[in-house]
Amino acid sequence: MKTYLVTGSASGMGAAVAQRLSGDGHRVIGLDLRDAQVCADLSTWEGRSRAVREVLTACGGVLDGAVLAAGMGPTAGRERTILEVNLLGVTGLLDGLRPALAAADKAKVVVFGSNSTTATPLVPRAALRRLADGDTTGAARVLLRRKPIAATLAYAGSKLAVSRWCREHAVAAEWAGDGIRMNILAPGPVLTPLLRAQLAGGTGKQVRSFPVPAREYGTPEQIATWVLVMLSPAADFMVGSVITVDGGTEALLRPRAW
Ligand code: NAI
Repeated sequence: MKTYLVTGSASGMGAAVAQRLSGDGHRVIGLDLRDAQVCADLSTWEGRSRAVREVLTACGGVLDGAVLAAGMGPTAGRERTILEVNLLGVTGLLDGLRPALAAADKAKVVVFGSNSTTATPLVPRAALRRLADGDTTGAARVLLRRKPIAATLAYAGSKLAVSRWCREHAVAAEWAGDGIRMNILAPGPVLTPLLRAQLAGGTGKQVRSFPVPAREYGTPEQIATWVLVMLSPAADFMVGSVITVDGGTEALLRPRAW
């Protein structure tokens, strides 16, 4: 039996992962705004600090793996919070939990990115530079000049920044060198409350027109299966990889990227 942290455990893909891990007999420390063992708001420094403290206590200082699925979709008017949850809600947590991950034997970390990183063009470089420094306030200021698509750019920008942070850290001595295997899962549209809210909201038409060659949306259960592989010994030789599971959008838009 292993001990895993799952953020965003109350809904969608995080809930599906937590369910599968518990079903396999593992101990799951769920973290979310509510309905979780650790209830914390990852959009604030205080929330992240408390989350780290509570998770370290709950796992006794040894964590076999972490799945960072908490996240916000591209909601207009919430640009800065999107950046804080999707970027700092991952990096702040992982910085604090690194010693507990290093204390386990080949701990695995799966961070939820998104195929929006490659499907959304024109995220301003000035915003990405600020995000690389963890300056979400400055990045939000840059993005808010791009209304009405500021939230879409904030979402893609947050996922680009978190993916870059993960790849840079994954290969470092303190991570890969300490036995931690950190990788990114980049889904396309998956039918969860997050996507349903987008389909029902003002951007519904835009989301529906997004080209998906598979002609269907993914399910949380499919994605959970990929996460389980990325938590298994099959991932012992996997470091800093981005696994795209998106029904073909990435290949359609960038067939010659490789
Ligand atoms: P969801 O909305 O069903 O679940 C996200 C969970 O994160 C919720 O339980 C929510 O309460 C939690 N959360 C949000 N803000 C939080 C905060 N400040 N503090 C703590 N918890 C917070 O979303 P879904 O679709 O399961 O998304 C999981 C991850 O996958 C997210 O990072 C999302 O950006 C990413 N993703 C989702 C896609 C989709 O089509 N559903 C596509 C690509 C990426």
